[in-house]
Amino acid sequence: MKNHTSTLIPGPLDSHTANLFLSQNSTVLLSTMLVAILTFIALAILRCGKIQPALHFSTAVPPYTHLTYPILGSLQYFSDPWNFLRTATEKGSVSFHLFNQSCIALSSDARQAFFSDWLTDPTLGYAIMLAGTPNLSKDFTKTVGIDITLGGRSYKFLTALIRKERVIAKMPTLYAYAYNHISGFGATTDPFESFPEIIFRLTVSIVTSSNIAANQAACNALLQIFIGLEKAATPVTVLFPWFFGPDRMRRFYLMKQFYNVMLDTIAERKKEGRNEDDAMQFLIDQGLSTMEITQFAIAVLFTGNANTAVVAPTLLCDLAMHPSYLSQVRDELETFISSFNSDMSLPLQARIQSIAYDDWTKPGCLPILERCLKETIRLRVGTPLHRLNNTEKDVKMGRVIVPRGTIATFHTSFVHHDEKIFPEPFVWDPERFSPERAEDKKTPMAFAGWGLGRHPCLGQKFATFEAYLLVALMVSLYDIQVVDERGQPLTEMPPPDLQNQVVSPPPTAIHLRLAARE
Ligand code: HEM
Repeated sequence: MKNHTSTLIPGPLDSHTANLFLSQNSTVLLSTMLVAILTFIALAILRCGKIQPALHFSTAVPPYTHLTYPILGSLQYFSDPWNFLRTATEKGSVSFHLFNQSCIALSSDARQAFFSDWLTDPTLGYAIMLAGTPNLSKDFTKTVGIDITLGGRSYKFLTALIRKERVIAKMPTLYAYAYNHISGFGATTDPFESFPEIIFRLTVSIVTSSNIAANQAACNALLQIFIGLEKAATPVTVLFPWFFGPDRMRRFYLMKQFYNVMLDTIAERKKEGRNEDDAMQFLIDQGLSTMEITQFAIAVLFTGNANTAVVAPTLLCDLAMHPSYLSQVRDELETFISSFNSDMSLPLQARIQSIAYDDWTKPGCLPILERCLKETIRLRVGTPLHRLNNTEKDVKMGRVIVPRGTIATFHTSFVHHDEKIFPEPFVWDPERFSPERAEDKKTPMAFAGWGLGRHPCLGQKFATFEAYLLVALMVSLYDIQVVDERGQPLTEMPPPDLQNQVVSPPPTAIHLRLAARE
């Protein structure tokens, strides 16, 4: 009889199959036991707190901050970013929002991940948080005030423009502008007005147009438009970039003025058939439209000028408030200049001509001034830095997930003003950067003054040259005293103003009393 049950009921196993079955079963059993033991050990170690769980176990969008208002979000971010970010992140990174823009405030320990990240975009992050370059499109509702036209190409152009060969070709002109400006000061000057003028002119020479730079009045007029643009970037323009309110109207109007200056300069050049060796010509030759040249100029002047225009005069004030450093720096600069031209019978203007662009920034050639500059930047540059996740996916920054469309923010004061990294952080003390103390080297990523990791400052060399040149001229030509607006000597510099989104001059008026040196 045919066995119909054979397919339903397993028959007795032959000895080979039985052995195989037993060996497979024991392998599974052993593996299960092993996994159980390892899990037990791992859990035991974790409970003891000996090791941290693997990153992917704890990666998450940070919890929401309680420092927020309905709908509008964390408006404290605009009025006092440092205190907001510091308080909000006391227990670690947090999420917050500014109307419809989602943000993540990273805590100090997340800085390595922030600076090393290469997926998120700083340009767009800053464009949103600082209201970006206004757009002149006719469809106002669509414009979000972001320099989207040039994108990453801006970096390529800027890198080409501040290449040393191009700057070297302009050195005699830069020296002449700087010398004429500084030597023309009277008995007093407000360095936070007079320095930005010359720094703007030097920057325009390199990244905009030599014709505009050559005309002091045109240059000053452009500077006023530029300052107006900065001032009109208010929280309202950031929160509601589509709202054509008074600030947005003002920015539109000023942008149009800036654009007209570019338009006229290009038209004049074309009419006269001139082919200048300057940034504007370079950008025209790259095929950029006048609008794109305008956007590039504003973006680069903003990045390059704003910081240097505060850092250079503050460095001079910090030196003048510390006479022993002032005299050391003066001696160091005198030795430096003499090593290129020791003929003391020549005027300073002639002697500095022999110094090449590279000489100013060669490592170790002006060690005391270098430490002073670093210390001024550490103490005074306390601002939020931004990265927009402009990708299609969520991005992992260390243990934090930055969702698509979110801006990650990190404040430089987390390191610059941390007393565990820099003891007595609000004291100006350049020796902290001396080889003996090297406070910035004892903690990873402690000094963020020139950026770190994936996005270091592209203009560091040029900015350093500008600051050194202006300080060299000032300390060689004048005896300097820091005074208040009534002419009374100041006993100390005001503390850094950390209540701003960008590097800002001191909150109280500061002047320099000058006496010409023999
Ligand atoms: C004392 C003056 C300056 C200081 C303290 C300074 C500081 C910085 C810092 C901290 C960053 C990093 C920002 C971040 O990580 O989000 C940065 C980036 C940058 N800086 Fe400067 N900067 C100065 C002058 C300049 C100048 C003169 C230029 C150009 C002419 C310039 C061009 C740039 C650019 C293009 C970036 C962005 C790099 C990138 O995103 O990859 N900076 N700067």
